[in-house]
Amino acid sequence: MSHNTFGHLFRVTTFGESHGPALGCVVDGCPPRIPLTEADIQAELDRRRPGQSRFTTQRREPDQVKILSGVFEDDRTGGPVTTGTPIALLIENVDQRSKDYGEIRDKYRPGHADFTYDAKYGVRDYRGGGRSSARETAARVAAGAIARKVVPGLTVRGALVQMGPHKIDRSRWNWNEIANNPFFCPDAEAAAFYETYLDEIRKSGSSVGAVIEVVAENVPVGLGAPVYGKLDADLAAALMSINAVKGVEIGAGFASAELTGEDNADEIRAGNDGAPVFLSNNAGGILGGISTGQPVVARFAVKPTSSILTPRRSVDREGHDVDVMTKGRHDPCVGIRAVPVGEAMVACVIADHFLRHRAQVG
Ligand SMILES: Cc1cc2nc3c(=O)[nH]c(=O)nc-3n(C[C@H](O)[C@H](O)[C@H](O)COP(=O)(O)O)c2cc1C
Repeated sequence: MSHNTFGHLFRVTTFGESHGPALGCVVDGCPPRIPLTEADIQAELDRRRPGQSRFTTQRREPDQVKILSGVFEDDRTGGPVTTGTPIALLIENVDQRSKDYGEIRDKYRPGHADFTYDAKYGVRDYRGGGRSSARETAARVAAGAIARKVVPGLTVRGALVQMGPHKIDRSRWNWNEIANNPFFCPDAEAAAFYETYLDEIRKSGSSVGAVIEVVAENVPVGLGAPVYGKLDADLAAALMSINAVKGVEIGAGFASAELTGEDNADEIRAGNDGAPVFLSNNAGGILGGISTGQPVVARFAVKPTSSILTPRRSVDREGHDVDVMTKGRHDPCVGIRAVPVGEAMVACVIADHFLRHRAQVG
Protein backbone atom coordinates (compact mmCIF):
# COMPACT_ATOMS: atom_id res chain seq x y z
CA MET A 1 0.00 0.00 0.00
CA SER A 2 2.59 2.55 -0.99
CA HIS A 3 1.29 5.63 -2.71
CA ASN A 4 4.21 7.98 -2.44
CA THR A 5 5.70 7.07 -5.78
CA PHE A 6 4.81 8.25 -9.28
CA GLY A 7 6.15 7.56 -12.76
CA HIS A 8 7.01 4.26 -14.42
CA LEU A 9 10.55 4.52 -15.79
CA PHE A 10 11.43 7.92 -14.31
CA ARG A 11 10.16 6.97 -10.89
CA VAL A 12 9.95 9.47 -8.06
CA THR A 13 9.35 8.57 -4.42
CA THR A 14 9.08 11.40 -1.91
CA PHE A 15 9.27 11.21 1.88
CA GLY A 16 9.12 13.50 4.88
CA GLU A 17 6.83 15.73 6.87
CA SER A 18 6.58 19.45 7.49
CA HIS A 19 8.12 19.34 10.95
CA GLY A 20 10.25 16.20 10.73
CA PRO A 21 14.04 16.46 10.56
CA ALA A 22 14.14 16.32 6.76
CA LEU A 23 12.29 15.56 3.57
CA GLY A 24 13.46 14.39 0.21
CA CYS A 25 13.05 11.98 -2.64
CA VAL A 26 14.53 9.03 -4.43
CA VAL A 27 14.56 9.22 -8.21
CA ASP A 28 14.98 5.77 -9.71
CA GLY A 29 15.35 5.09 -13.41
CA CYS A 30 17.21 8.24 -14.38
CA PRO A 31 19.48 7.38 -17.31
CA PRO A 32 23.24 7.36 -16.67
CA ARG A 33 25.86 9.92 -17.78
CA ILE A 34 23.65 13.00 -17.38
CA PRO A 35 25.65 15.88 -15.85
CA LEU A 36 24.07 16.74 -12.49
CA THR A 37 25.19 18.90 -9.58
CA GLU A 38 23.56 20.08 -6.38
CA ALA A 39 23.66 23.60 -7.87
CA ASP A 40 21.42 22.45 -10.77
CA ILE A 41 18.80 21.27 -8.29
CA GLN A 42 19.29 24.19 -5.91
CA ALA A 43 18.50 26.70 -8.66
CA GLU A 44 15.02 25.20 -9.00
CA LEU A 45 14.49 24.88 -5.24
CA ASP A 46 15.39 28.52 -4.76
CA ARG A 47 12.47 29.52 -6.98
CA ARG A 48 10.02 27.71 -4.69
CA ARG A 49 11.75 28.61 -1.39
CA PRO A 50 9.55 30.34 1.19
CA GLY A 51 10.15 33.76 2.69
CA GLN A 52 11.43 35.43 -0.47
CA SER A 53 8.83 38.19 -0.49
CA ARG A 54 6.12 39.46 1.83
CA PHE A 55 3.65 37.51 -0.30
CA THR A 56 4.86 34.07 0.78
CA THR A 57 5.14 32.37 4.16
CA GLN A 58 7.83 33.80 6.42
CA ARG A 59 9.00 30.34 7.42
CA ARG A 60 12.77 30.53 6.87
CA GLU A 61 13.81 27.39 5.07
CA PRO A 62 17.04 27.50 3.09
CA ASP A 63 15.97 24.27 1.34
CA GLN A 64 19.58 23.25 0.82
CA VAL A 65 19.67 20.03 -1.16
CA LYS A 66 22.19 17.24 -0.64
CA ILE A 67 22.75 14.54 -3.25
CA LEU A 68 23.23 11.34 -1.24
CA SER A 69 23.60 8.85 -4.06
CA GLY A 70 23.38 8.17 -7.78
CA VAL A 71 25.91 10.79 -8.92
CA PHE A 72 29.60 10.18 -9.45
CA GLU A 73 32.59 12.14 -10.61
CA ASP A 74 36.05 10.97 -11.58
CA ASP A 75 38.61 12.36 -13.97
CA ARG A 76 36.99 10.55 -16.90
CA THR A 77 33.40 11.74 -16.39
CA GLY A 78 34.32 15.43 -16.77
CA GLY A 79 32.17 16.50 -13.81
CA PRO A 80 29.49 14.83 -11.69
CA VAL A 81 27.16 12.63 -13.73
CA THR A 82 24.25 10.35 -12.94
CA THR A 83 25.24 6.70 -12.70
CA GLY A 84 21.88 5.09 -13.49
CA THR A 85 21.43 4.10 -9.84
CA PRO A 86 18.84 5.64 -7.49
CA ILE A 87 19.42 9.34 -6.90
CA ALA A 88 18.57 10.18 -3.29
CA LEU A 89 18.10 13.84 -2.41
CA LEU A 90 17.82 15.24 1.11
CA ILE A 91 16.48 18.62 2.24
CA GLU A 92 16.67 19.36 5.95
CA ASN A 93 13.89 21.23 7.77
CA VAL A 94 15.52 23.91 9.87
CA ASP A 95 12.75 26.36 10.81
CA GLN A 96 10.08 24.18 12.40
CA ARG A 97 8.07 25.87 15.14
CA SER A 98 5.88 23.10 16.44
CA LYS A 99 4.45 25.24 19.20
CA ASP A 100 2.59 27.27 16.57
CA TYR A 101 0.43 24.22 15.98
CA GLY A 102 -0.20 22.86 19.48
CA GLU A 103 -3.60 24.50 19.58
CA ILE A 104 -4.92 22.66 16.53
CA ARG A 105 -3.79 19.24 17.77
CA ASP A 106 -7.37 18.20 18.49
CA LYS A 107 -9.21 20.55 16.14
CA TYR A 108 -9.83 20.02 12.44
CA ARG A 109 -8.84 23.07 10.39
CA PRO A 110 -11.44 23.65 7.64
CA GLY A 111 -9.93 23.24 4.16
CA HIS A 112 -7.05 21.16 5.52
CA ALA A 113 -6.47 17.42 5.51
CA ASP A 114 -6.76 17.17 9.32
CA PHE A 115 -10.16 15.47 9.41
CA THR A 116 -9.47 13.05 6.56
CA TYR A 117 -6.04 11.94 7.84
CA ASP A 118 -7.54 11.27 11.27
CA ALA A 119 -10.60 9.52 9.84
CA LYS A 120 -8.41 7.32 7.62
CA TYR A 121 -5.35 6.59 9.77
CA GLY A 122 -6.54 7.24 13.32
CA VAL A 123 -3.34 9.17 13.93
CA ARG A 124 -1.95 12.35 12.44
CA ASP A 125 1.16 14.45 12.63
CA TYR A 126 -0.56 17.76 13.34
CA ARG A 127 2.66 19.80 13.27
CA GLY A 128 2.20 22.01 10.23
CA GLY A 129 0.02 19.42 8.53
CA GLY A 130 2.65 16.66 8.66
CA ARG A 131 2.75 14.78 5.39
CA SER A 132 -0.17 16.77 3.96
CA SER A 133 1.91 19.95 4.17
CA ALA A 134 3.17 21.49 0.95
CA ARG A 135 6.70 21.23 2.39
CA GLU A 136 6.59 17.91 0.52
CA THR A 137 6.46 19.76 -2.78
CA ALA A 138 10.11 20.82 -2.30
CA ALA A 139 11.03 17.19 -3.04
CA ARG A 140 8.98 17.30 -6.25
CA VAL A 141 10.80 20.42 -7.39
CA ALA A 142 14.13 18.71 -6.72
CA ALA A 143 13.06 15.68 -8.76
CA GLY A 144 11.83 17.99 -11.52
CA ALA A 145 15.28 19.55 -11.81
CA ILE A 146 16.61 16.12 -12.78
CA ALA A 147 13.68 15.40 -15.09
CA ARG A 148 14.38 18.56 -17.08
CA LYS A 149 17.78 17.11 -18.00
CA VAL A 150 16.44 13.79 -19.24
CA VAL A 151 14.72 15.13 -22.37
CA PRO A 152 17.14 16.90 -24.75
CA GLY A 153 16.20 20.53 -25.39
CA LEU A 154 13.10 20.41 -23.16
CA THR A 155 12.02 23.68 -21.55
CA VAL A 156 9.22 23.81 -19.01
CA ARG A 157 8.05 27.23 -17.84
CA GLY A 158 5.18 28.21 -15.59
CA ALA A 159 3.32 31.47 -15.11
CA LEU A 160 0.62 32.77 -12.79
CA VAL A 161 -2.18 33.88 -15.12
CA GLN A 162 -4.94 34.70 -12.63
CA MET A 163 -5.06 35.78 -8.99
CA GLY A 164 -8.46 35.72 -7.35
CA PRO A 165 -10.85 36.91 -10.07
CA HIS A 166 -8.17 38.99 -11.81
CA LYS A 167 -6.78 37.52 -15.04
CA ILE A 168 -3.67 38.73 -16.82
CA ASP A 169 -3.93 40.35 -20.23
CA ARG A 170 -2.53 37.62 -22.48
CA SER A 171 -1.61 40.16 -25.18
CA ARG A 172 1.00 41.49 -22.73
CA TRP A 173 2.51 38.03 -22.09
CA ASN A 174 6.29 38.31 -21.77
CA TRP A 175 8.20 35.36 -20.31
CA ASN A 176 11.04 37.70 -19.33
CA GLU A 177 8.71 39.40 -16.83
CA ILE A 178 8.39 36.23 -14.76
CA ALA A 179 11.67 36.92 -12.97
CA ASN A 180 10.87 40.62 -12.44
CA ASN A 181 8.01 40.22 -9.95
CA PRO A 182 7.30 38.04 -6.91
CA PHE A 183 4.31 36.34 -8.60
CA PHE A 184 5.86 34.55 -11.63
CA CYS A 185 3.52 36.78 -13.63
CA PRO A 186 4.21 37.30 -17.36
CA ASP A 187 2.17 40.53 -17.52
CA ALA A 188 4.01 43.43 -15.85
CA GLU A 189 0.86 45.52 -15.44
CA ALA A 190 -1.08 42.70 -13.83
CA ALA A 191 1.88 42.04 -11.52
CA ALA A 192 1.84 45.67 -10.38
CA PHE A 193 -1.87 45.35 -9.65
CA TYR A 194 -1.42 42.04 -7.79
CA GLU A 195 1.05 43.75 -5.49
CA THR A 196 -1.60 46.14 -4.11
CA TYR A 197 -4.37 43.59 -4.29
CA LEU A 198 -2.50 40.87 -2.40
CA ASP A 199 -1.22 43.34 0.18
CA GLU A 200 -4.81 44.13 1.09
CA ILE A 201 -5.69 40.45 1.27
CA ARG A 202 -2.59 39.73 3.36
CA LYS A 203 -3.14 42.58 5.80
CA SER A 204 -6.73 41.51 6.37
CA GLY A 205 -5.49 38.00 7.23
CA SER A 206 -7.37 36.50 4.29
CA SER A 207 -6.24 34.58 1.18
CA VAL A 208 -7.01 34.10 -2.52
CA GLY A 209 -6.65 31.41 -5.17
CA ALA A 210 -4.84 31.47 -8.50
CA VAL A 211 -4.55 29.86 -11.92
CA ILE A 212 -1.15 28.72 -13.17
CA GLU A 213 -0.23 27.85 -16.74
CA VAL A 214 2.65 25.54 -17.55
CA VAL A 215 4.10 25.38 -21.05
CA ALA A 216 6.53 22.65 -22.11
CA GLU A 217 8.42 23.26 -25.34
CA ASN A 218 10.53 20.94 -27.47
CA VAL A 219 8.47 17.96 -26.39
CA PRO A 220 9.17 15.30 -29.03
CA VAL A 221 6.27 13.93 -31.10
CA GLY A 222 4.96 10.61 -29.86
CA LEU A 223 5.07 10.80 -26.05
CA GLY A 224 2.08 9.27 -24.30
CA ALA A 225 0.82 5.71 -24.11
CA PRO A 226 -2.83 5.16 -25.06
CA VAL A 227 -5.14 4.23 -23.68
CA TYR A 228 -4.44 4.26 -19.91
CA GLY A 229 -1.14 6.09 -20.04
CA LYS A 230 -2.24 9.08 -22.09
CA LEU A 231 0.06 12.05 -21.70
CA ASP A 232 -2.81 14.39 -20.83
CA ALA A 233 -4.22 11.94 -18.29
CA ASP A 234 -0.86 11.57 -16.57
CA LEU A 235 -0.30 15.33 -16.58
CA ALA A 236 -3.73 15.88 -15.04
CA ALA A 237 -3.04 13.31 -12.32
CA ALA A 238 0.38 14.78 -11.58
CA LEU A 239 -0.89 18.35 -11.35
CA MET A 240 -3.96 17.32 -9.37
CA SER A 241 -1.68 15.66 -6.82
CA ILE A 242 -0.22 19.05 -5.87
CA ASN A 243 -1.61 20.42 -2.61
CA ALA A 244 -4.55 22.81 -3.00
CA VAL A 245 -5.07 22.08 -6.74
CA LYS A 246 -8.77 21.76 -7.53
CA GLY A 247 -8.84 21.82 -11.32
CA VAL A 248 -6.65 21.01 -14.33
CA GLU A 249 -7.07 21.94 -17.99
CA ILE A 250 -5.11 20.91 -21.06
CA GLY A 251 -4.94 23.33 -24.01
CA ALA A 252 -8.24 25.18 -24.45
CA GLY A 253 -9.57 23.07 -21.57
CA PHE A 254 -13.03 24.00 -20.31
CA ALA A 255 -13.21 26.85 -22.83
CA SER A 256 -13.23 24.26 -25.65
CA ALA A 257 -16.83 23.48 -24.71
CA GLU A 258 -17.75 26.94 -26.00
CA LEU A 259 -15.97 26.53 -29.35
CA THR A 260 -17.41 25.18 -32.58
CA GLY A 261 -15.74 22.28 -34.36
CA GLU A 262 -14.36 24.69 -36.96
CA ASP A 263 -12.72 26.84 -34.34
CA ASN A 264 -11.49 24.11 -32.06
CA ALA A 265 -9.81 21.52 -34.32
CA ASP A 266 -6.24 22.65 -34.95
CA GLU A 267 -5.76 22.77 -38.74
CA ILE A 268 -2.57 21.36 -40.25
CA ARG A 269 -0.47 22.42 -43.25
CA ALA A 270 2.76 21.04 -44.65
CA GLY A 271 5.76 22.98 -43.42
CA ASN A 272 8.80 23.86 -45.51
CA ASP A 273 10.52 20.62 -44.60
CA GLY A 274 7.33 18.63 -45.20
CA ALA A 275 6.70 18.19 -41.50
CA PRO A 276 3.17 19.11 -40.43
CA VAL A 277 2.59 22.58 -39.03
CA PHE A 278 -0.39 23.13 -36.74
CA LEU A 279 -2.17 26.46 -37.25
CA SER A 280 -3.42 26.66 -33.65
CA ASN A 281 -2.96 24.72 -30.43
CA ASN A 282 -6.33 24.24 -28.76
CA ALA A 283 -5.29 20.65 -28.13
CA GLY A 284 -2.47 21.80 -25.87
CA GLY A 285 0.04 19.74 -27.83
CA ILE A 286 -1.70 16.39 -27.27
CA LEU A 287 -3.95 14.34 -29.59
CA GLY A 288 -5.20 10.89 -28.63
CA GLY A 289 -3.04 11.06 -25.54
CA ILE A 290 0.12 11.45 -27.67
CA SER A 291 2.24 14.58 -27.99
CA THR A 292 2.04 16.36 -31.35
CA GLY A 293 5.36 18.19 -31.10
CA GLN A 294 3.57 21.47 -30.35
CA PRO A 295 4.03 23.06 -26.95
CA VAL A 296 2.28 21.08 -24.24
CA VAL A 297 0.04 23.50 -22.35
CA ALA A 298 -1.54 22.69 -19.00
CA ARG A 299 -3.34 24.96 -16.57
CA PHE A 300 -4.31 24.36 -12.96
CA ALA A 301 -6.46 26.14 -10.40
CA VAL A 302 -5.18 26.51 -6.84
CA LYS A 303 -7.66 27.16 -4.06
CA PRO A 304 -7.17 30.01 -1.57
CA THR A 305 -4.95 29.25 1.41
CA SER A 306 -7.14 27.62 4.04
CA SER A 307 -5.19 29.00 7.00
CA ILE A 308 -6.61 32.45 7.55
CA LEU A 309 -6.86 34.70 10.59
CA THR A 310 -10.68 34.85 10.66
CA PRO A 311 -12.09 32.17 13.00
CA ARG A 312 -13.90 29.40 11.11
CA ARG A 313 -16.40 26.87 12.42
CA SER A 314 -15.31 23.26 12.79
CA VAL A 315 -15.31 20.29 15.16
CA ASP A 316 -12.68 18.66 17.36
CA ARG A 317 -11.68 14.98 17.58
CA GLU A 318 -14.42 14.35 20.14
CA GLY A 319 -17.06 15.83 17.87
CA HIS A 320 -17.61 19.12 19.70
CA ASP A 321 -18.28 22.31 17.78
CA VAL A 322 -15.28 24.63 17.94
CA ASP A 323 -13.94 27.76 16.25
CA VAL A 324 -10.56 27.50 14.55
CA MET A 325 -8.26 30.40 13.86
CA THR A 326 -4.99 29.34 12.31
CA LYS A 327 -1.93 31.06 13.66
CA GLY A 328 1.50 30.20 12.33
CA ARG A 329 3.02 31.36 9.05
CA HIS A 330 1.16 31.09 5.78
CA ASP A 331 1.11 32.28 2.18
CA PRO A 332 -1.80 34.63 1.34
CA CYS A 333 -1.84 33.00 -2.12
CA VAL A 334 -0.30 29.54 -2.30
CA GLY A 335 -0.69 29.67 -6.07
CA ILE A 336 2.51 31.71 -6.26
CA ARG A 337 4.82 29.03 -4.93
CA ALA A 338 2.82 26.40 -6.79
CA VAL A 339 4.31 27.68 -10.07
CA PRO A 340 7.70 25.90 -9.78
CA VAL A 341 5.90 22.86 -8.35
CA GLY A 342 3.64 22.65 -11.42
CA GLU A 343 6.64 22.97 -13.71
CA ALA A 344 8.38 20.15 -11.84
CA MET A 345 5.40 17.80 -12.12
CA VAL A 346 5.08 18.47 -15.85
CA ALA A 347 8.83 17.88 -16.31
CA CYS A 348 8.67 14.59 -14.40
CA VAL A 349 5.71 13.31 -16.44
CA ILE A 350 7.36 14.25 -19.73
CA ALA A 351 10.68 12.67 -18.70
CA ASP A 352 8.85 9.49 -17.71
CA HIS A 353 6.98 9.36 -21.03
CA PHE A 354 10.16 10.12 -22.96
CA LEU A 355 11.79 7.03 -21.44
CA ARG A 356 8.64 4.94 -21.87
CA HIS A 357 8.41 5.93 -25.54
CA ARG A 358 12.07 5.05 -26.07
CA ALA A 359 11.57 1.70 -24.33
CA GLN A 360 8.59 0.69 -26.46
CA VAL A 361 9.21 2.33 -29.81
CA GLY A 362 13.01 2.66 -29.75
C1 LIG B 1 3.39 25.71 -2.44
C2 LIG B 1 2.21 25.52 -1.53
C3 LIG B 1 2.22 26.08 -0.26
C4 LIG B 1 1.14 25.92 0.61
N1 LIG B 1 1.15 26.55 1.82
C5 LIG B 1 0.01 26.55 2.57
C6 LIG B 1 -0.09 27.37 3.72
O1 LIG B 1 0.85 28.10 4.08
N2 LIG B 1 -1.25 27.34 4.44
C7 LIG B 1 -2.33 26.58 4.04
O2 LIG B 1 -3.37 26.63 4.67
N3 LIG B 1 -2.26 25.80 2.94
C8 LIG B 1 -1.11 25.76 2.22
N4 LIG B 1 -1.06 25.00 1.07
C9 LIG B 1 -2.21 24.11 0.74
C10 LIG B 1 -2.35 22.91 1.69
O3 LIG B 1 -1.18 22.14 1.74
C11 LIG B 1 -3.53 22.05 1.25
O4 LIG B 1 -4.64 22.86 0.96
C12 LIG B 1 -3.95 21.07 2.33
O5 LIG B 1 -2.90 20.15 2.56
C13 LIG B 1 -5.22 20.27 1.96
O6 LIG B 1 -5.04 19.58 0.76
P1 LIG B 1 -5.93 19.87 -0.54
O7 LIG B 1 -6.16 21.34 -0.59
O8 LIG B 1 -5.07 19.39 -1.69
O9 LIG B 1 -7.21 19.10 -0.40
C14 LIG B 1 0.02 25.14 0.20
C15 LIG B 1 0.02 24.56 -1.09
C16 LIG B 1 1.08 24.75 -1.95
C17 LIG B 1 1.05 24.16 -3.33
